[in-house]
Amino acid sequence: MPERPRPANARPEASQRPSEPDPKWVAELTGMTVEKAGSAIQEASDDRGLAGAIQTSHRSAGRDYYAQIRAPFELYALVRLMRPQHVVEVGVSSGVSSAYLLRAIKKNEMGKLHSIDLPKVQRHQVFTEAEDSPVALPVGKGSGWAVPPGLRAGWDLRIGPSEQVLPMVASELQRIDLFLHDSLHTFEHATFEFQTVDPKVPSGGVVLADNTDWLGGALDQYAVSKGTHAIYRKGIDLGGVRKP
Ligand SMILES: C[S@@+](CC[C@H](N)C(=O)[O-])C[C@H]1O[C@@H](n2cnc3c(N)ncnc32)[C@H](O)[C@@H]1O
Repeated sequence: MPERPRPANARPEASQRPSEPDPKWVAELTGMTVEKAGSAIQEASDDRGLAGAIQTSHRSAGRDYYAQIRAPFELYALVRLMRPQHVVEVGVSSGVSSAYLLRAIKKNEMGKLHSIDLPKVQRHQVFTEAEDSPVALPVGKGSGWAVPPGLRAGWDLRIGPSEQVLPMVASELQRIDLFLHDSLHTFEHATFEFQTVDPKVPSGGVVLADNTDWLGGALDQYAVSKGTHAIYRKGIDLGGVRKP
């Protein structure tokens, strides 16, 4: 993916920090009221145990931050409100998005997360700004290593390039209710992922993409091909398409 060189243990740039949650975005993507979306976001925000566990893991690996999803509470809220059978995400890295998706699935007492990651591992024992990607894993850690053990039961985590693994996952599933692209952020790759999952996304299903500023309009193009438009979260380049 395009590099954003910065030390993983530095304070995140303003544009990368989790920002004020956006219940309106969740409401628009789910067809629920802003009040319901706000309550679901609040539930995630109140879960201090999960945020604390992730932070403790990161600090144990010498980091405060990496290039993780900037709207984890909204991911949680989408799952709580949509009650999906199958959620698919591509791009796990240390596992912040996975942890919030899994937490919501556990709370729903239904559904399954299928995650795909082709990990990068940092080159040196200590993260170096010049040589490492902000999504690199600490030495000795695997994809999703920061996901708390209590959330891992039933998690379908597959390691490999999505070019190979995503078509297999899609062929195995009858439906994909919620999809998140957070892997290689190019027009071609994002378009490949959207086209691969689309036949399994039902009406009312949601396709999300992070870092849309790097996608050359791939999410908008996908939306238009479905006769709709992408909806963007306030403040950051995270977008979603609710399939008509
Ligand atoms: C931005 S990080 C994901 C962050 C994660 N969603 C989170 O919130 O913590 C992107 C991840 O996608 C992985 N990746 C890059 N290209 C990929 C590909 N072709 N297939 C699968 N994973 C890929 C990267 O190595 C990295 O682990």
